[in-house]
Amino acid sequence: MKIETVSIANFRNYKNLDIKFDDKVNVFIGKNAQGKTNLLESIYFCCIGKSFKSCKDKDTIKWGEEKGSIKLLAKKKYREEKIEIKLDKTKKKTVLVNGLPIRKIGDLIGEINIVFFSPQELKLVRESPDERRKFMDISISQNNKRYFYQLSRYEKILANRNKLLKNSQTIETVKETIDIWDRALVMSAKYIAFEREKFVKEICPYAEKANLFLSEGKENLRLEYVCGCDVKLDDNFEKELEKKLKKNIEKDFKLGYTTLGTHRDDIDIYLNDVEVKSFGSQGQQRTVGLALKLAELENMNNINGEYPILLLDDVFSELDLDRQKRLLKFVSRTQTFITCTDERKIDGKLFFIENGNIK
Ligand SMILES: Nc1ncnc2c1ncn2[C@@H]1O[C@H](COP(=O)(O)OP(=O)(O)O)[C@@H](O)[C@H]1O
Ligand SMILES: [Mg+2]
Repeated sequence: MKIETVSIANFRNYKNLDIKFDDKVNVFIGKNAQGKTNLLESIYFCCIGKSFKSCKDKDTIKWGEEKGSIKLLAKKKYREEKIEIKLDKTKKKTVLVNGLPIRKIGDLIGEINIVFFSPQELKLVRESPDERRKFMDISISQNNKRYFYQLSRYEKILANRNKLLKNSQTIETVKETIDIWDRALVMSAKYIAFEREKFVKEICPYAEKANLFLSEGKENLRLEYVCGCDVKLDDNFEKELEKKLKKNIEKDFKLGYTTLGTHRDDIDIYLNDVEVKSFGSQGQQRTVGLALKLAELENMNNINGEYPILLLDDVFSELDLDRQKRLLKFVSRTQTFITCTDERKIDGKLFFIENGNIK
């Protein structure tokens, strides 16, 4: 998978921009706040349908403008792919795939696969389970549309169930209607849990290998999927989860939310059997975070027979020279977009970025 060109109009600090990319490594070089990350964001937006920042779509339109757009042309193994995002201050965004507007973002995800890594991604290892669930969700959704739909179904059902728990005056009122939500919830929970377990199993050997490679073969990495449903992942999953939900109903009613479910899932990460989240050094956490992303890359290649696009934002400034070299060796197998503040010894096409312009 390769991105050939991107055309931007009124997106972030870019007025107009047309770029042709290299098939291998593209490096965006510039001082702070010139638009390097914004450029990666425009590519990400076309692949995932939204920004990697938690912001509204219209916040990405250039200040003072009403409309913005991003067009991206990609070459896949067997065909070309044209994605267009139209942003409008007064309307919902429009997404076109090969000229045809799509109705749901689920129809865009997976067209062009992408892996994004930035220093923020340290959160993946260090912070709340939320980040690790997001990691699983974005990665699995890109290869499995059904997962994406089951996930949004689950979120809707959960919101309804929580609303019932929170707004009901008595537990009797809750008990009258909650069965409907529970039956629906366990179906999606099963699909999500099984897919996440499979995903963690799949990426584990890749992550282990990448981590050994980045850390010069010193530490063994192990990943474990932790299901928030508190039931075994077998044929009785739905029945057992429904039973557990029933058992917890008074607790849930008191708290006003659902305490069991895949919205409480996590991944436990160990280095030589020590939990990295609590005991790892910052350096270890960074390397492990990167290893998880590289594992995602390998896993997608394994599934699709084609590497995804790799975006690396400000990653090199955070790594020592040795790890930089190792990472560069690794990324040479796919089309990569790298941002950095100074010219490094990176083989690739260099773009010098200044104030929303390419020199
Ligand atoms: N919607 C917007 N319209 C115009 N400029 C924006 C918008 N959003 C952010 N910016 C500007 O973009 C710049 C940051 O760009 P960024 O790509 O993050 O820089 P860097 O080169 O450091 O990665 C900041 O100067 C910010 O003010
Ligand atoms: Mg930046």
